Amino acid sequence: MQLTLPRWFAHRGGGSLAPENTLAGIRLAASLGYKAVEFDVMLSGDGTPVLIHDETLERTTNGSGSVSATPDSELFVLDAGGGEPIPNFVEAAALCCQLGLLANIEIKPAAGYEIETATRVAVLAANLWRDTAIQPLISSFSLEVLEVARDLAPQIPRGILFEAVPRDWLVEMKRLQALTLHCCADLLTDAVLDQAAALHIPVLCYTVNSPTQAKILLQRGVAAMFTDRLDLFADETSTYKR
Ligand code: G3P
Ligand code: MG
Repeated sequence: MQLTLPRWFAHRGGGSLAPENTLAGIRLAASLGYKAVEFDVMLSGDGTPVLIHDETLERTTNGSGSVSATPDSELFVLDAGGGEPIPNFVEAAALCCQLGLLANIEIKPAAGYEIETATRVAVLAANLWRDTAIQPLISSFSLEVLEVARDLAPQIPRGILFEAVPRDWLVEMKRLQALTLHCCADLLTDAVLDQAAALHIPVLCYTVNSPTQAKILLQRGVAAMFTDRLDLFADETSTYKR
């Protein structure tokens, strides 16, 4: 499978310049020239995939309680920052397609909802991006989620996501038929980079907000990065191909 990765992904939609995981953030990323956005997807109390990072509502909205216990009728009227609502995943997908953005769908299930979340998001994504020129990239910290995505939407590329990359990462990548390795920039070792380079596996790092760190990571062979500082990297449009 051919994979073309922009060098920069807007982290959580619009990084720190817009409310996180909102359509306004995605629009901002596109308007600044970004070709890719990363966002987090979880199920509401009604089982609807929505864009949100935390299992609870307090940090990013004016609501309270757990996302997985909140029905859509209450969830979609909340303020996720600047008057922006929590987006339905379907709306975010449509916007990415309309704006020509590569979407990195980070499936972030609430604990205990791994299979259900992966099933709903993978099946929806396969339909939403059917016959589109730019396919999304599904990633998750949950290997269980990636297993479901592999089985239900094998045609959508998958990225295996770690904070620190474990020793057996290659075994898991092969098992999950993942194409990309995503990890925390601060914890990435040269040993992992060497292994990835030998197999032409693109390494994507989060969250990179310093031009100096970005330069070093690129020199070390990192393929792409997630940033909150959309203002700092908007001019860097080159892409990585394999
Ligand atoms: O997908 C990369 C990055 O978003 C993972 O960390 O906590 O920001 O979702 P987090
Ligand atoms: Mg994320």
